[in-house]
Amino acid sequence: MTNYIMKPQQETEAPRYNLFGAEFKANPHPTYATMRAQQPICRRTSSDGQSTIWFVTRYDDVAAMLRDHKRFVKNFRSTRTPAELAQLPPEPELLRLISNHMLNLDGVDHARLRGLINKAFTGAMVEQMEPRVQTIANQLIRKVYAKGQMDLIDEYAFPLPIIVIAELLGIPPRDRNRFRNWSHAFVTSSANVQRSAKKLAKAGRIMQDFTRYLSRIFDERRREPQPDLITSLLQTEEAGDRLSEDELFSMVILLIVAGHETAANLIGNGVLALLQHPAQMERLRTHPALIPSAVEEMLRFDPPVERATIRFAAEDVAINGQTIRRGDVVSLVLAGANRDPAQFACPHAFTPDRANNRHLGFGLGAHYCLGAPLARLEGRIAIETLLQRLPNLQLAVPVESLRWRTVPVIRGMLHMPVVWSSAA
Ligand code: HEM
Repeated sequence: MTNYIMKPQQETEAPRYNLFGAEFKANPHPTYATMRAQQPICRRTSSDGQSTIWFVTRYDDVAAMLRDHKRFVKNFRSTRTPAELAQLPPEPELLRLISNHMLNLDGVDHARLRGLINKAFTGAMVEQMEPRVQTIANQLIRKVYAKGQMDLIDEYAFPLPIIVIAELLGIPPRDRNRFRNWSHAFVTSSANVQRSAKKLAKAGRIMQDFTRYLSRIFDERRREPQPDLITSLLQTEEAGDRLSEDELFSMVILLIVAGHETAANLIGNGVLALLQHPAQMERLRTHPALIPSAVEEMLRFDPPVERATIRFAAEDVAINGQTIRRGDVVSLVLAGANRDPAQFACPHAFTPDRANNRHLGFGLGAHYCLGAPLARLEGRIAIETLLQRLPNLQLAVPVESLRWRTVPVIRGMLHMPVVWSSAA
């Protein structure tokens, strides 16, 4: 039901806060600051007038709810009684194929799927990838260096994690561009699925294309196993366990989307923060040992996952004088929690060497980001390489003209034109 891209329904009542659209996305932080202060658990009603969404913006509440796996669940079905479940319409086949993954499951179902893939993303496994990630960053810079300008999003921030995750999974290089387009269109158009039949049909067509492509890759790997993650998922057999066809498709799609939409925006949002704080940028250039801590600050300051994927209340929950009813949707605002003055000193300041930075950029609890070690590696290498190789890096347009994606869960720019002195 829910994933990285699902958008809570639009509301009908006059909204107290504008939480959607381009204007809000240009700078959501003042709105989140007001919500934290005035309505930290904020109720909204959906357009059908029946479902309720709660936006939560304070650090302590967000952290507690991310950890409360009993009362706030990922699988909507866990909130229904057997009688209510019997009333639900059958899930469309395509939806089943793409949404049967760990981020939509709870308890043992979640642990089982996560356990099958965990090994590939441990710190030790990721460490081995460092030279390859560095080579990819160098190659991307080499490609653009002489022209003295690029769209940082299109030519650096996106390609780097896409190449990494594609190589890890075993997607042939010739298909990477299609692969990026599919995933991008998936995130963008799926965010609108509740708006119109036309858009729903478009999202369906894109996903059909995507799953057809993956089917072909799976067949190829079954015939000719390769040293890649898709082959090892196909061969997975742990304690007699095996991935079903739905689970396999959903797992690979989750890794593709989670593996690059986020890391790309860590690089984009992180570089923007540096360009807006030139003294800090210079400090990192001369003291690269500070970069890992700067990456943590980037994840706090403008987290690529602005709001966690939605959860559902499994029972009625009384909190701060409000009652969240069983089945209500809960949207935990990571970007709000990360700037809570009760948790972070000077929360609106970008402080690359911030001490005790317990940001929620990777979530918390059972669904804590599986790819965090890889994301940290990619972020560190991408920033370090950029600072070393591109002198006098600057934005090529006024910061106010940058346009942000309007997908609710993701925080990232559409484009980011930058220039540098290639002769230096
Ligand atoms: C900077 C980059 C990244 C950020 C900010 C990020 C953030 C997050 C967050 C906030 C969650 C929890 C969502 C929730 O609880 O609703 C999550 C989960 C997840 N992430 Fe990441 N992520 C990043 C990169 C990656 C990468 C590179 C991969 C893998 C290739 C990955 C794979 C996953 C998976 C599989 C989950 C689901 C875990 C579960 O349900 O147990 N992520 N990520």
